[in-house]
Amino acid sequence: MALRIPGHEHQAPREVGLEEIRDLMGNCQLCELGQTRNNLVFGVGNPRARVMFIGEGPGRNEDLQGEPFVGAAGKKLDSLLCVAGLTRDEIYIANVVKCRPPSNRNPRPAEIEACSPFLREQVRSIWPDVIVCLGNFASQWVLKTQAGVTSLRGQLHQVGHFLVCPTFHPAACIYHPDWLPLLESDLAMVGQWLREHPKEEV
Ligand code: URA
Repeated sequence: MALRIPGHEHQAPREVGLEEIRDLMGNCQLCELGQTRNNLVFGVGNPRARVMFIGEGPGRNEDLQGEPFVGAAGKKLDSLLCVAGLTRDEIYIANVVKCRPPSNRNPRPAEIEACSPFLREQVRSIWPDVIVCLGNFASQWVLKTQAGVTSLRGQLHQVGHFLVCPTFHPAACIYHPDWLPLLESDLAMVGQWLREHPKEEV
């Protein structure tokens, strides 16, 4: 499948690398978040990650630093990765929307739609085995459903090539500590699957 960015439809279908996708975003103004952001937060991590995490959108710290999950939610996520036997170096992290919604409001459907081609191509470029969806927006985007994460979590979903783990957003667990064991149990499931399916060396 080809990268289809509005204004670039003329481009021939081909696989793209992460740098190229970032370059295509440039000073993106495809939605109004482009006008209020400080930095576009593209994504960070291992371009060959077996596990890709998808969050909702940058918060204040991420907007200022240009990197996903560097604030309180990021600290929480870092502390949880070991439950899946993972380190930050091994994974790739991106968000459904790449620019901070003002006052951390929910991203709007038009904003998600505008950003979708870029996230889709990030997923295609990384081609992870597992996608961990943090919160409602990522879970609904990946699983193409309106169902909430509460009903989706607790099991792994096969979506084509990808094994998808919808789970609570770490920031939500800061305010709902009773959700934390559920997030941990979802990540433990991912860890178990990874152990049972070791990467084949080429
Ligand atoms: N929350 C998210 O969903 N993404 C970030 O990058 C930071 C906080």
